[in-house]
Order: sequence, then structure tokens, then C-alpha cells
Amino acid sequence: MNKYKIVSLVLSLALLAALVRLVYSTEVRPAPASEADVVLRNIHSRKSVRSYTDRAVSRTQLDTLVRAAMAAPSGRDMRPWRFVIVDERAVMDSLSARLPKAKMLADAPAAVVVCGDLGVVDQEGKPSVNWVMDCSAATENLLLAAEAMGLGAVWTGVYPYEDRMAAVSAALGLPEHVVPLCVVPVGYPEGDPRPKSKYKAENVHYNGW
Ligand SMILES: Cc1cc2nc3c(=O)[nH]c(=O)nc-3n(C[C@H](O)[C@H](O)[C@H](O)COP(=O)(O)O)c2cc1C
Repeated sequence: MNKYKIVSLVLSLALLAALVRLVYSTEVRPAPASEADVVLRNIHSRKSVRSYTDRAVSRTQLDTLVRAAMAAPSGRDMRPWRFVIVDERAVMDSLSARLPKAKMLADAPAAVVVCGDLGVVDQEGKPSVNWVMDCSAATENLLLAAEAMGLGAVWTGVYPYEDRMAAVSAALGLPEHVVPLCVVPVGYPEGDPRPKSKYKAENVHYNGW
């Protein structure tokens, strides 16, 4: 084979390789996700996580969670939410011991206690009638932020159970005007928890029942 034939063979092979690479890469590369796709995927991926690894969660991460919580809407923009961040083992264990439905607190590295402040009043001096909804919206924001950050969390109910509210108030020394709504343990998920499929077309009505 002469020199020119070798050069043209090498060039042909290089061209073929480039073509194969191009076809392959356009076939397997997924379309870039839009911002809406990313947000929707996060919403649909959220699930209650009740087992955690030993990995710590930093205060910076916990701060990110409560910032997301405080981005929630609230009735008359009163923002009656308050957050108690717990990352001391003794306090986590004390909460776990007092809350039978939140035993997983004993294994979680941290928790956020979402509370309503009845001391936040309107112009007539009345506390928000919406504090439960406001703090619930904040809690959902927090859960979604945890999901987005690769953390696992679960809403454990405190309000409206008098015994659980008294237990949390005592464990955290809450003032009387601060009412705990829920305790959210936070940690890195253990295992592979999966979201539930909940969509039901029959739950949706258009333009009236
Ligand atoms: C108001 C409320 C109270 C809840 N209380 C508890 C609880 O005390 N303990 C618990 O393990 N999970 C609790 N959960 C989590 C639910 O069990 C969970 O959201 C539900 O089973 C749906 O599963 P998912 O969150 O994985 O979609 C609570 C959730 C809500 C909204």
C-alpha cells in the first residue's frame, strides 16, 4: 500500500469514528431538563424518609431548609411560623422518647420543629386564624427543599394532639404563645425509599362537582 492510500484510509477511519460518535451521542443524550421539569420531578420524588445513615447534616444545610420554609405563602402575609432547629443528641433523644409516632428522631442527626407564634397579631390584636395552614405550607416547602438537597425528612404530627404539644413544649422550653405544629427529622436516607404514586383522575373535577 502506498503512502497516499494509508493516509486516506486513516482519514476515512477517523471520519467514520467521528460519525459513529456523533450519532451515538445524539441518540443517548437526554434532552436537557427544563426548570419546570426539575421542579416537578422534585415534587414527585418527595417521600417520607424514616431511616437515616450516620452522616451529619450541617447547620448550613439546616439554614437552607428553614429559608425555603420561610418562602411559603401565609394568610395576610403574617408569617406566624417559628422554627426550632435541633442538632444536639440529648434533645433529639428527649423528643424521640416523648413522641411515640416520631421514634425515628433517635436515629436522625437533626430535626426542625415547626411552630406557630400566636403572639403575631393583626391590627385588631388578633392572632392569625391561618397559622396552621401557614406553618403547613412552610413545612411542605421544607420537605421539598430536603428532597432537592438529597436529604430525607418526614412530617411527624404534633398539633392538634394536646399530649404531643405539651411534650414538645416541655422538651424545648417553648413559651406559651408558641405552638408546635410538627417535628421534621432530617438526615441522609438509609436504603432506597421510594415516593408513592397518589394521582387519581377521579379526585379532580372541572368547573363544578
Ligand atoms: C399532618 C401530618 C402528620 C403526620 N404525622 C406523622 C407521624 O406522626 N409519624 C410519621 O411517621 N409520619 C407522619 N406523617 C407522614 C405521613 O404518614 C406520610 O406523609 C404519608 O404516609 C404519605 O407518604 P409520603 O409522605 O411518603 O408521600 C404525617 C404527615 C402529615 C401531613
